[in-house]
Amino acid sequence: MKLDIVSIFPEYFAPLEVSLLGKARRTGLLDVRVHDLRRWTHDRHNTVDDTPYGGGPGMVMKPEPWGEALDAIAPPSGGAVPRLVVPTPSGRPFTQVMAAEFAAEPWLLFACGRYEGIDRRVYDEAAARMPVTEVSLGDFVLAGGEVAVLVMIEAVSRLVPGVLGNTDSVTDDSFAPGAMESLLEGPVFTKPPLWRDRPVPEILLSGNHGAIARWRRDQALRRTARYRPDLLARLDRAALDKHDLATLADAGFPVDGEDMAD
Ligand code: ADE
Repeated sequence: MKLDIVSIFPEYFAPLEVSLLGKARRTGLLDVRVHDLRRWTHDRHNTVDDTPYGGGPGMVMKPEPWGEALDAIAPPSGGAVPRLVVPTPSGRPFTQVMAAEFAAEPWLLFACGRYEGIDRRVYDEAAARMPVTEVSLGDFVLAGGEVAVLVMIEAVSRLVPGVLGNTDSVTDDSFAPGAMESLLEGPVFTKPPLWRDRPVPEILLSGNHGAIARWRRDQALRRTARYRPDLLARLDRAALDKHDLATLADAGFPVDGEDMAD
C-alpha cells in the first residue's frame, strides 16, 4: 500500500519508523513518503498561509502550494489516482469501518492542514480527479492534521494483510465487524494467576472455551452499557441472545424489545 503525506512538519512522522509500521515499511508492505509542503512554495519566506477572505481570526492555507504538491505526487496525466484524505474537525467521523475501507485502497494521500484549514478550492480541484474524504477523529480540535494522520495510518495499516503478525487479533477488536461490532472489548489477563492478592477470574483458567467466550461477551456488554450506551442502541437486536438480554438487564440497560431500537 502506498501512503503519501504532505505536511509543513514532516518531522512529526518520525514514529512511522518504529514498531509495527517501521517493520511493515522495511518489508515493503507499506511504501510511505513524507513531503514538506514548503517545497512547493516559491517566495523567500516559503509562505503557506494568508489571511481569510471575509475576515475572521486565524490564517488559511494558500491554494498554490497545495495544488502543486498534489500535481507532483499524483500527476493529473498519470494512470492511478490516490484517495485524498484530509483530517479536519469538520469531516466525517473516523471509524473502524472507515479504517477497513481505507485499508483496502492501494494508495492514500494525506494532506495535513494547519491554521484554520486549506482553501476550499484545493478540495474542489482535487475532487475533479480523485476521491476526497475529509475525516474527523472526534469532537475536539487539534492544532493540525499531523497527529490525526498518524492515528489514521496506525489504524489503517494494522488492517493491511501481513502487517500484524497474527491476523486473528483484529477480529476480536472493539468495533471489529462481526460478533464484536458495536461492543467494547472487555478486560484481559495474563500470568501470574495471582498477583498482589488479585486472582485472575476463575473462568479464564477453566479451559472451557464456550464458557470463556460467554464470559468475554458478558464483560463486553457490561462495559459497553457503562461507557457507550449509544453503541448498544445501535446493536442489532437479532444478534442478541437471551443471555445477552439478561446481562444487559443486569447492567441496567433497557432490554425490552422496542426500547433497543429507539
Ligand atoms: N484537525 C484538527 N482537529 C481535528 C480533528 N478533531 N480530527 C481530525 N483532524 C483534525
